Amino acid sequence: MQFTGKKGLILGVANDHSIAWAIAKQIMEQGGECGFTHLPDRADDERQRNRRRVSQLTDKYENAKFLVPMDAQNDDDVRSVFEHTAEQFGKIDFMLHSIAFADRDDLARDTVETSRAGFKLAMDVSVYTLIACTNAAKPIMNPGGSIATMTYFGGEKCVPGYNVMGICKAALDATVRYLAYDMGPQGVRVNALSAGPIRTLAGRAAGVEKMLTMYEHMAPMGRNVTHEEVGNTGAFLLSDASNGITGDILHVDGGYHAMGSPGRLLDQLQK
Ligand SMILES: NC(=O)c1ccc[n+]([C@@H]2O[C@H](COP(=O)([O-])OP(=O)(O)OC[C@H]3O[C@@H](n4cnc5c(N)ncnc54)[C@H](O)[C@@H]3O)[C@@H](O)[C@H]2O)c1
Repeated sequence: MQFTGKKGLILGVANDHSIAWAIAKQIMEQGGECGFTHLPDRADDERQRNRRRVSQLTDKYENAKFLVPMDAQNDDDVRSVFEHTAEQFGKIDFMLHSIAFADRDDLARDTVETSRAGFKLAMDVSVYTLIACTNAAKPIMNPGGSIATMTYFGGEKCVPGYNVMGICKAALDATVRYLAYDMGPQGVRVNALSAGPIRTLAGRAAGVEKMLTMYEHMAPMGRNVTHEEVGNTGAFLLSDASNGITGDILHVDGGYHAMGSPGRLLDQLQK
């Protein structure tokens, strides 16, 4: 119960497959209280589908304390989420940023053909929002607090198909290091969790299916990672158990990132 007495924000649950939900569940099951955001619904969407998908999950948890809309590209939305958080929780101990977006057309095109508008959109949602939310969280973070974001290996090396999102993840990884420096004097840590492929909405758009097969053959562990494994490590990074770690990227990918050759996949290619 290492989150007993701890409160924080979870940004980026879209549905029960979301990595943010896997992490939030671990935190709440270990006693933590969480506030959630959802992507705003269009006013003419009577069914308020974005909110409903998330509330179906949070309603079942007593420790899910509130659910408010936030388009992280909108400064007023960000401000109002953090005002609401301060009203509900006072100070917070953790914040998970699990947000990314790129236009499907840009993901499908070769990187060299990325549009200017698509590049700006992907960078704004997938990178700048970590800066905006960390700055908004700064006045209400307790010393000893922890911020984590979700990254992918495609920001460290070229992973064909990941394209513009790989460039965003490289920028996100650098952002983590600079924010860790800025937040350090306040006693707040900033880290990234680099997950192997996981079936989610965003994952599907980024070509997760092909990657799952590749990881199974190439990762030292010879298998893919689970939502639960990513959830465990996300909770670890947001807890006091990781209290000497900041500015880091922790891989939960069955060891795939450690490989310098196709490994056992090579045996199959040679058959
Ligand atoms: N699925 C994978 O294989 C994988 C692997 C490594 C890293 N990641 C990263 O994990 C994070 C979470 O993705 P996921 O795989 O859980 O998919 P997901 O689709 O469940 O989560 C993405 C979230 O981003 C939110 N979002 C998009 N635009 C937003 C905006 N303007 N304002 C606020 N929220 C916005 C969506 O509402 C959604 O909740 C992403 O950063 C993704 O790149 C995913």
